[in-house]
Amino acid sequence: MTTPTNQNLELKTIVDFCRRKGFVFASSEIYGGFAATYDFGPLGMPLKKNIEHSWRMHNILTRTDMVEIEGAIFMHPKIWEASGHIGGFSDLLVEDTVTHKRYRADHLIEEAGIMENAGALSPEETDKIISQHNLKSIDGHPLSNSKKFNLLVKTHLGPVEDETSVAYLKGESCQNIYLNWKAIQETTRRKLPFGIGQIGKAFRNEITVKQYMFRTREFEQMDVQYFVKPGEEDTWFDYWKQYTWDFFVNELGVNPNNLRWRQHEEDERAFYAKDAWDIEYHFGKMGWKEICGVHNRTSYDTDQHSKFSGQDLSYFDAVTNEKYNPYIIEVSAGFNRIFLATMFEHYKTEEVGTVDKPDLRTVLNLPINLAPFKLAILPLMKKDGLGDKAQEIYKTLRKAGLSCDYDESGSIGKRYRRQDENGTLVCVCVDYQSLEDGTVTLRHRDTMQQSRASIEDLIKLG
Ligand code: GAP
Repeated sequence: MTTPTNQNLELKTIVDFCRRKGFVFASSEIYGGFAATYDFGPLGMPLKKNIEHSWRMHNILTRTDMVEIEGAIFMHPKIWEASGHIGGFSDLLVEDTVTHKRYRADHLIEEAGIMENAGALSPEETDKIISQHNLKSIDGHPLSNSKKFNLLVKTHLGPVEDETSVAYLKGESCQNIYLNWKAIQETTRRKLPFGIGQIGKAFRNEITVKQYMFRTREFEQMDVQYFVKPGEEDTWFDYWKQYTWDFFVNELGVNPNNLRWRQHEEDERAFYAKDAWDIEYHFGKMGWKEICGVHNRTSYDTDQHSKFSGQDLSYFDAVTNEKYNPYIIEVSAGFNRIFLATMFEHYKTEEVGTVDKPDLRTVLNLPINLAPFKLAILPLMKKDGLGDKAQEIYKTLRKAGLSCDYDESGSIGKRYRRQDENGTLVCVCVDYQSLEDGTVTLRHRDTMQQSRASIEDLIKLG
């Protein structure tokens, strides 16, 4: 058993840091926020795009067996019936009999230390455990019996609000892939095995939302759905498990000590899934939590949609002259959890002073592919033409498409530290020598070492 590297890091430290630096704001913050929904700010948004781009590079753009789609959020209501979400996509809810606050029963049981994975219990088993352990609400009041609470977010589309206009927001992003799979296979003339990827929104009316953006009601899922010939699914399942692990380690720079696999118990797995494993990340003091699932969904999804739509979704295998619905290996990673794991992983405080003069530095040591800004242009002073020269370099680099920031307020030391917190790889200081010989000081985030480079070479980077 390896030891995670972030044992003492608290969620609150990350929440405060994300707000202070403008990575993440609570949605509708000036109205007091709104039910665990979040906006990505000027630093968070480019970090989000960089994570997504790294995911696309790893899973789609550098591979020859993957295509990508972007599906609609609203889909025919029958889909959610076929997929099993209307009948079975629910958590067990219990109510405080005095305050009427509602809780997820499995969370209360787990948090009381009674058992793990209480989500697999039936309503009867849940009620029995609550009664045997005399479990109370957070406010100390008796609890009601548990009842099923469907997580689909329901709405009405069009001018009439009745049963005929009911629509659901996507409960899982992947459904467009299953519906379109045959059209995609035919239009791209693909042969099995091949995969379809999508980064798309999902919505769940979670009973309780807590732990910041770990559990939210609106989030994105980054999905790979890989279609294989039945009988070949176990080999591909193992392949995608390893390939997904490599994404976290190689693309997001996660220390393998902070990652682990957890296989779903039989009673925890969706009834159609042949095998299911989660990758869990160690979120500091919050402990191990799921960030991504790898599932063998068999041919359940295309079987169900064939049945409900009356359309043939099978594949004709020209090699064996057979028709069959392929098996699907699914890799589904929730973006918000990946973002949070990235912050936990790369947020560091380090002592860089001396015994006599302690100096604690905060740094976000993001890998180069993730850093929101690769460079920051900082004039040593605003006066004597240094500000103008720095602005000229900044504008040239931005026009050339290089992600760089500009900062002229405060001492140069403070500005270096500000950029360390932003995760900026290199600060470019425009000083008096710059005006004389066309060179600048480069100050490197990770080593804090300085070197000199010519402005001309810097501009060539863009
Ligand atoms: N299509 C498969 C699927 O939806 P899931 O295990 O329910 O499977 C996949 O979700 C991933 O989506 C999870 O591993 C998690 O990262 C993320 N996720 C699920 N519910 C979430 C929520 N309420 N808030 C944030 N992320 C969530």
